[in-house]
Amino acid sequence: MDRYAVIGHPVEHSKSPLIHAAFAQQTGQQLEYGKVQAPLDGFVAIVTDLQEKGYRGVNVTVPFKFEAYSLATELTPRARDAGAVNTLTFTDGAIHGDNTDGVGLVRDILQNLAFTLAGKRVLLLGAGGAAEGVLGPLLEASPLSLCIANRTVDKAEAMVARVRPGQTSLDARGFDALADQEFDVVINATSSGLHNERLPLPSGLFAADALAYDMMYGRETPFMRYAREEGASRIADGLGMLVEQAAEAFYIWRRVRPDTAPVMAALRAA
Ligand code: ATR
Repeated sequence: MDRYAVIGHPVEHSKSPLIHAAFAQQTGQQLEYGKVQAPLDGFVAIVTDLQEKGYRGVNVTVPFKFEAYSLATELTPRARDAGAVNTLTFTDGAIHGDNTDGVGLVRDILQNLAFTLAGKRVLLLGAGGAAEGVLGPLLEASPLSLCIANRTVDKAEAMVARVRPGQTSLDARGFDALADQEFDVVINATSSGLHNERLPLPSGLFAADALAYDMMYGRETPFMRYAREEGASRIADGLGMLVEQAAEAFYIWRRVRPDTAPVMAALRAA
C-alpha cells in the first residue's frame, strides 16, 4: 500500500487524512494517508525517516513549509515563486517540492465560487508566508490590479518588488491607506483570525458584487464578520482552498484528479 502523510506542528486537527481518504475511495486508489506531528526542531529527521520507510510523499503544513522548500532537491516553478513547499514527492532518492496552495485558492474562487479574477480589482491582506504562497497563481489569473496591504508595509513592498512586471498593476499599502478604495475580491491571508483579532480595515472596501475570502476555515473570523457587516455580496472561508490544494497534491502523486465537490459537501455537513 502506498503511504503518505501530512506533517505539521500542531497537526492533530488536520483534515488532510479525511480528504485524501475520500479522494482515494472515490477514485479507487489504494493508499494510506496519516498525520505526523514533527517536533519544531525535527522536521528534516521526520521526513528522512518517512522516506526511509518507503512513504511516497508528504504534505507539509505550518510551520514547516520553508524547511520543506530547503529540503527539496527539485522545485517546481510555482514552489520557487512561493518560496515555500506544501507537497513533497519522494522518487529514487530525489525529493520533489511543489506548492499547491495558490492553485487551490484560485480554483476555489474560479470554479467552486464561480467568481472571475480576470480584469478584477483584487486586495490581498497580509504579506507573510500564506500571502506569498498564493501571489503567483493569483497574478496568473490576470486581475486588473492587485493591492497587497499589510500591517508592516515594508513586507508588502518587498513582495511587490519581487514580482516580474506583467499586465496586472501592483501596489503595496498599509491598512490606513485603503480608505476610499474599492475592490471586487478581498482575500484575507493574514493570521489575525487565528487569534480572533480584527484588522483595522476602513468601511466601504467592497465594490458591488464583491467576494470576501478568508483563507482560514472552521468558524466565522473577525474578517468574515466585518465583510458581513459591510454587505459583501459573497463571503467564503478557506475550506474550499484546503480541499482544492489537497486535490492538486493528490493529482501530483496519483495522476488522477478527484472530484472535490462531494468531499467539500461532506466536510461542510460534518
Ligand atoms: P503565515 O504563514 O500565516 O502567513 P506569517 O508569515 O507569520 O504567517 O504572516 C502573518 C501575516 O499576518 C503577516 O502579514 C502579519 O502582519 P505583519 O507582517 O505586519 O506581522 C499578519 N498579521 C497577523 N496578525 C495580525 C493582526 N492582528 N493585524 C494585522 N496583521 C496581522
